[in-house]
Amino acid sequence: MRQQIPLIIYLSLLLFVTQQAEKLGFVFELVRHGARAPLVSSPQCQFQVGDGMLTASGMRQRYFLGKLNREKYIENQPGFLNEQFYYSQIQVQSTNVFRVIQSSYAELLGTFSTQNKKTQLPSSSVESLKVGKGMPKIKIRNKIENILKESDVLDNITLLPVYNFLKPNLKDNITETGCPYAGQQYNSAWYNPAYYEGYNEMLLAQLRQPYTEAFKLNKFKARFMNFTDLYEYSDILLGEEAENTCPKRFNFSEEQQYYNCYVQYLTLVLDFQDITRKLFVSKLLEMPIQNIMKRIDEISNGDKDQSTLRYMIYSGHDVQIANVLTLLNPIEIGDVYQIPYGSTFYIELYYDDDCIKNTKTENDKQNCFWVQVIFNGKQLSFDTCQNESKLSKDELFIHKRCSFNNFLSHLDKNQYKGDMIEQCKKDFIN
Ligand SMILES: *[C@@H]1O[C@H](CO)[C@@H](O)[C@H](O)[C@H]1NC(C)=O
Ligand SMILES: *[C@@H]1O[C@H](CO)[C@@H](O)[C@H](O)[C@H]1NC(C)=O
Ligand SMILES: *[C@@H]1O[C@H](CO)[C@@H](O)[C@H](O)[C@H]1NC(C)=O
Ligand SMILES: *[C@@H]1O[C@H](CO)[C@@H](O)[C@H](O)[C@H]1NC(C)=O
Ligand SMILES: *[C@@H]1O[C@H](CO)[C@@H](O)[C@H](O)[C@H]1NC(C)=O
Repeated sequence: MRQQIPLIIYLSLLLFVTQQAEKLGFVFELVRHGARAPLVSSPQCQFQVGDGMLTASGMRQRYFLGKLNREKYIENQPGFLNEQFYYSQIQVQSTNVFRVIQSSYAELLGTFSTQNKKTQLPSSSVESLKVGKGMPKIKIRNKIENILKESDVLDNITLLPVYNFLKPNLKDNITETGCPYAGQQYNSAWYNPAYYEGYNEMLLAQLRQPYTEAFKLNKFKARFMNFTDLYEYSDILLGEEAENTCPKRFNFSEEQQYYNCYVQYLTLVLDFQDITRKLFVSKLLEMPIQNIMKRIDEISNGDKDQSTLRYMIYSGHDVQIANVLTLLNPIEIGDVYQIPYGSTFYIELYYDDDCIKNTKTENDKQNCFWVQVIFNGKQLSFDTCQNESKLSKDELFIHKRCSFNNFLSHLDKNQYKGDMIEQCKKDFIN
């Protein structure tokens, strides 16, 4: 009989059994704004919003993400967060770019709007949102528009605060200019062919012909196409594709479409030198990690205060996610070739309640905590975590867990070593 249990059912049974005492302790979410208009406008296709601005569907995208988060972190995790927004449990920081701030409000509205308590997304929509594939069918859009009509909630005083720095500031841990050295280096990369050498030819071989047709380029433009152009063309195409109201310019083959996305991803990664990526990402992750450690202390000591910080959202761009992924270098990194609008990266801290109750010393309690790292619905694993001693192979396979201590070692291996702030304060000399 036993052999006849299909593998998938066996695996879900195992999951069910092993999840009994598991609890969620902390969530760090790094998220890209929703769909936006292209950065450079193109006469062939008018958007209802200005260049680079969040579109209605981009807002909807993050609103739905908020709903999904409500389901994952509130409805399915009783006791983790209050049902209603509680200011000290949650911290939302954003870059100071309009599309990002608006995206953040839209998401919070999805998570905490009290109009309907239960989320009602069909499972197919949940799946598609999880993998960052697409947005569910409208319906709630009307609701957003009704809300907007009543009063301009998103530009009004709000009970759900989103913080950002108006000007570059060392305390800004999301924007690259929060580390001036990294910010200056990043700026100098843009338009600078030296950064893209070695990739130009490969990409042009794939994309020169389709872009020439899609944008009806003259011979001169087609001939002197360079990396900056590739980036702009792909940006326009991806924006138009998301909006889906413009006539299709060109039917890309699957391979061409892959490279059309890859150009974006590659630009973000190549724009940083190793040292500046380390500075930028280490600085970005420092507070989330510190706050996770605080939670570990609290939970180990009986978790008596329900009001402490447990959900941090950094609302940003593809550049943050692409470089966090590159620095962490998960085993699955080879599959990452794009960071679509609304992409998410989560570090979720879990713990085993029984383990904590049955463990005496503070030090040993550390072993009751682990993280799951998830990019667009896909769990990531790390080489440093493959050496888990406490978990069986099956568990490792299913959960892709990484004990918190091993995750820290992994981070230590990859992040900036030295006085980060001192280095950040230096001027980057090209
Ligand atoms: C802000 O909201 C209040 C109450 O809903 C409304 O009266 C006011 O007009 C709104 N202000 C703006 C700028 O939308
Ligand atoms: C940014 O991180 C530093 C630690 O590196 C911290 O002191 C500062 O408060 C953080 N800024 C914000 C706004 O959280
Ligand atoms: C691409 O060409 C434009 C001008 O034609 C130039 O300003 C830019 O620096 C070039 N970019 C790269 C990456 O070569
Ligand atoms: C793309 O393919 C569709 C379906 O085959 C066709 O109707 C459409 O005209 C094509 N568009 C372009 C721009 O080639
Ligand atoms: C895993 O453990 C083995 C033996 O302790 C060690 O040699 C190896 O370097 C470890 N691998 C990683 C990726 O940490």
